[in-house]
Amino acid sequence: MISVCDKTFELSIPEAEILANVDAVAKRIDADYEGRNPLLVCVLKGAFIFCSDLVRRLRCNSQVEFIRLSSYHGTKTSGKVTELMGLTADITGRDVIIVEDIVDSGITLYNAIPRLRELGAKTVEVCALFAKPENLRVPLQVKYVAMEITPAFIVGYGLDFNEQGRQYRDIYQLKADN
Ligand code: IMP
Ligand code: MG
Repeated sequence: MISVCDKTFELSIPEAEILANVDAVAKRIDADYEGRNPLLVCVLKGAFIFCSDLVRRLRCNSQVEFIRLSSYHGTKTSGKVTELMGLTADITGRDVIIVEDIVDSGITLYNAIPRLRELGAKTVEVCALFAKPENLRVPLQVKYVAMEITPAFIVGYGLDFNEQGRQYRDIYQLKADN
């Protein structure tokens, strides 16, 4: 068990199991992108460790860019707006794969994908380390999911709780009684 910001978390997914699933998702991407040069767009901060393990497992040529996503409420008519921060590369005509730590409600990525298409991406797919299908609230298509999990809150392997806990090699989940 570990303690993060005064909350107790228990071991949920050991590193070896995470890496076996990263291997498997890398093989699927390799099969689909053979002879292409996908642009991995890593969503900071949570996906930085996943992305570094993923890119080192891909056999196809790939490039990596980093972005942050910020969601805010626009005007009443435009609803929720997601801004891509830090994307300086020209993505015109590129095969983009968004690399995300976890898809929860799916709202953040659901809003981000049209922005990448507007910037000229030829194809946009999502590769998520984790997805919580029970929490999905929008019809987001996530082509590559390394692991589907139940809705419990998790930390480790890059994922945080109030910016803490990213350093753990294994995944820990919040204990139900705290
Ligand atoms: P969504 O728009 O609801 O899909 O938000 C997904 C984002 O919420 C992820 O990129 C994470 O930053 C955060 N998130 C969701 N669930 C967890 C969790 O269990 N641990 C840590 N961060 C989470
Ligand atoms: Mg995130």
